[in-house]
Order: sequence, then C-alpha cells, then structure tokens
Amino acid sequence: MNLILLGPPGAGKGTQAKILEERFGYRQISTGDMLRRNVAEGTPLGVEAKGFMARGDLVPDDLIIRMVEHELTYPADVILDGFPRTVPQAEALDALLARHHRGAVAVLFDVDMGVLLERLTGRWTHPASGRTYHVKFNPPTVPGRDDVTGEPLIQRPDDTEATIRKRLAVYTEQTAPLIAYYDDPADPRLVQVDALAPIAEVTAQIVALVRGGQAAGAP
Ligand code: AP5
Repeated sequence: MNLILLGPPGAGKGTQAKILEERFGYRQISTGDMLRRNVAEGTPLGVEAKGFMARGDLVPDDLIIRMVEHELTYPADVILDGFPRTVPQAEALDALLARHHRGAVAVLFDVDMGVLLERLTGRWTHPASGRTYHVKFNPPTVPGRDDVTGEPLIQRPDDTEATIRKRLAVYTEQTAPLIAYYDDPADPRLVQVDALAPIAEVTAQIVALVRGGQAAGAP
C-alpha cells in the first residue's frame, strides 16, 4: 500500500519517510527534495520553482504533477512526502493511481503548530540524501556532519522564521483542506498519528497502523 504523508512543515514527514524507507524498503518520493535538486542543478524546472520556494509559496500544480507523474510507475510501494499539497494535486494523484491500479492511504501528522518553529529553525540537512537532524531532538553524532557520509550539514534557506511563518500559513490555507478530502465518509482513506511524540514513537505508531490493517498490505 502506498502512503501519503500529510502534515505541516516540520511535522516530521521527511524524518519518518527516511526511516520507513531504510527499514521497510519503501521508496520515498519527496517533492521538496526533487525540487531542491532541480534548483541546485539549475534545470528549467528549478529556475521556475526557485522563487516560489524562497518565498514559502507552493510551486504551481501543473509543474509538480508533471514532475511526479512518472515516479508512480515505480513497481514497489512508495511514500509520498510533500505531495499532494492541494486539492487539484490530490485529484491528479487519484487519477494516476487509478491508471496504475494502485491505492494509497493518507497518514496525517497531528502536531501542535507551536512546536514547528523550534523544529524547523533547529533543523540541519544533508542535501545529497535529504537526511535531517535537529540540534536538540535528533543531533548528529558529530556536530555539523552527516552520520552516514561525514559530509557537512546545511540549514535550508527556507528555514528562516519569516519564511517558516509563510509556509505554515500556506499549509493552513491550501493543504489542510486535504484532511477532509481523505477523510471522506464515503471513502475514508485517512489515519492519524500523534506527531508530538518522540521520533521512534511516531515510527512505531505508523508501523502499527499499517500492520493493523488500516493500510493493509505493508510494511
Ligand atoms: P518540503 O521540502 O516538502 O518542505 P515542508 O513541507 O515545508 O516540510 P519540511 O521538510 O519542512 O518538514 P517535514 O515534515 O519533512 O519535517 P522533518 O521531518 O524535516 O517543501 C519545500 C518547498 O517546496 C515548499 O515550501 C514548496 O515551495 C515546494 N513544494 C514541495 N512540494 C510541493 C508540492 N507538492 N506542491 C507545491 N510546492 C511544493 O522534521 C523537521 C525537524 O524536526 C527536523 O530537524 C527533525 O529532526 C525534527 N523532528 C522530526 N520529528 C520529530 C519529533 N517527533 N520530535 C522532535 N523533533 C522531530
């Protein structure tokens, strides 16, 4: 079963996607990481996306849908991290899943908005892999260095307080409506985890939900 990770910036979607990928063989599809790679490589998509990302706005739906489309041909189960983010993206995803005879369950990261600023301003990222750390909640073994490669960690340019506040507002306005979209009584596809819990506990909750049959089939 494919998983859609749904929640505000800093809820822990990327952290959990990486853990589930490493432990259970899922493949993470992170639209944020894909966009950042395009920006770093200066591709036409990256050039177009850069300004939206720097401002904390969403990149236009048509660019995102085209970028993700071919990823769903991947034969194994995937974790969609950061996609969909708008109702038109969710509708496009449903059409793509139907075309490939696949299903998906949305995992909502329930978190108090008050913790997100601290999580994001304290985040350090390994740009090549997308692995993230936190100065307080999940520090690397050697400060400033990735645990796996030893390469330097960076702070994302959109993790400034002003841009974080904008991203949170954009989430409330454009992405939070997806909760009702996936919680449709006629076709409920939403499960929820307490994302305020420590990282390992959040992983355990997701695994329990998936194994418990609410997202039958995996891991
Ligand atoms: P994207 O990269 O997707 O960023 P985001 O949604 O803002 O999410 P984050 O990566 O900030 O948060 P996360 O939930 O993954 O948190 P993490 O696990 O790192 O998107 C960036 C930009 O790209 C967007 O603003 C937009 O412009 C564009 N974009 C991307 N997708 C798009 C789309 N579909 N449509 C249009 N535009 C799109 O955790 C955060 C920190 O908290 C880390 O330091 C971590 O160590 C720590 N932490 C994690 N879990 C816990 C825990 N349980 N307890 C304590 N600390 C924790």
